[in-house]
Amino acid sequence: MGQGTPTSLPLGDFKPADQWQTHVNAIFYGIQGPSIHDHFQTYVSRDHRLAHALTEEFLSAARENPAPVLNVQEWGVGNGNLAGCFLSHVKELDAKGKVYPRIRYALCDYSNEILKGARQNPRLADHAGRFFPILVPADYLDCFPSQSVQQIFSNEIWDDLATRVLLKDGDLLYEEYLQPCLDPAMAGMDFDTLKTFFNDGNRAELARVPSLLSAIVWERSFQRVDLSNWPFHEVLEAHAGEMAEGIPVPVNVGAFATLERARDLLAPGGMGYTGMDYGMFSMREVNAEGRPYFNIYGGQYTSMVNFELLAEVGKAIGFAEVTREYQHDFVGRRLGDRVASIVELVQRHPGTRNMQPWDRDILMLQTLQAVNGTYRSPYKHRMTYPALPGTPKKQRKQIAQLVEHLSTRGVPDTVAYVTETEVRATLSQLNKLGYREKEIRSVFDSPRDPISFVCLHFR
Ligand SMILES: C[S@@+](CC[C@H](N)C(=O)[O-])C[C@H]1O[C@@H](n2cnc3c(N)ncnc32)[C@H](O)[C@@H]1O
Repeated sequence: MGQGTPTSLPLGDFKPADQWQTHVNAIFYGIQGPSIHDHFQTYVSRDHRLAHALTEEFLSAARENPAPVLNVQEWGVGNGNLAGCFLSHVKELDAKGKVYPRIRYALCDYSNEILKGARQNPRLADHAGRFFPILVPADYLDCFPSQSVQQIFSNEIWDDLATRVLLKDGDLLYEEYLQPCLDPAMAGMDFDTLKTFFNDGNRAELARVPSLLSAIVWERSFQRVDLSNWPFHEVLEAHAGEMAEGIPVPVNVGAFATLERARDLLAPGGMGYTGMDYGMFSMREVNAEGRPYFNIYGGQYTSMVNFELLAEVGKAIGFAEVTREYQHDFVGRRLGDRVASIVELVQRHPGTRNMQPWDRDILMLQTLQAVNGTYRSPYKHRMTYPALPGTPKKQRKQIAQLVEHLSTRGVPDTVAYVTETEVRATLSQLNKLGYREKEIRSVFDSPRDPISFVCLHFR
């Protein structure tokens, strides 16, 4: 399975996948800070609808909860937008002031750069004294007393945490090993010096070569493995019994650790731990042939989340109630409508497959403009949408003009939820852009992909 180029040299030895994954991710977040969202967006990094759905679920339980202090923790906080939208929405809905004044919201992250950025998020400016950035790894978190937290949230952190990969072949199981390799021409310094900085995780020095992580070529190999000394090996052996042969299956051991921490920290009668991420909803998707099991964004190495296994581990840890639902259904239930993202809408446009990337950007912006005709965000936001490198002058100008005319109360991002009603109300403009009824219907109707956004609730 090696993918190295003939010129690339190893930056280190082959090691189980989780070891290199966590190593490069710590470098990625340490170097990037809040500019991570130049590489990827999430459903909470600009949008408010998932955050508001979580807030409303929280509020209905919090009103009945007599605890004098409601400790809420978010693990892996990104730019702090989820925290800002959560606190703003609680404040707005809690007219009698019964809940908001009791909240202490801890923004927990292992990257100081990320926490510095989150602290500056303008949406948090109104909530001074109510939120507390805390530098701590999510799979460790020994600095809080047991049973002291009412609610825990995390979004898109499990896919970053240590993940081992299993492969079944007949009665035998194999584990994936990775080796990072690099073309020395990409090192930007003497290769051996860079190798030392990389292995030491020296962020100050590695920040001088920000393109390093995305230039890494990962060599892969599989080695025989015995599960008996893996965490939760009994749950894992049962899972392996259900696995199809020849399909790499992620085992998100770092996510298991967060569940153990959550179980210890959550107060009895609290609201529990709600974690959101993307991956395989059930065994059917785990065994779907050809589905991806990892992804690399700007050098960050992410693994698909095996929600089936995570739910089983949650039960083994002692959670009394473990529920799973598609994230789109969770948000849609709260809004009383079906929802999709603008990205999903654009992906279904009949012309996108043959378009140049800049023409796809123009279509994206025109689609946003059309839906903005009915959409009104409760938050003001000016969208930035830089043209891709290589965009011709004419299209670059058009992109800049379209961005300038986007409403500050419009859909806040391309990864943002819009309802079927909002989309249908702009049907005539969407038709003019080339969308047909069947594509619009399929965005809201189609069966879920093998990799989907999912919420897991543990109580
Ligand atoms: C993909 S980003 C998601 C950010 C945010 N939750 C969102 O959805 O936009 C992952 C976040 O988790 C943090 N993170 C990754 N591994 C972590 C760990 N072991 N402990 C604490 N935070 C971690 C990163 O610094 C980053 O803020």
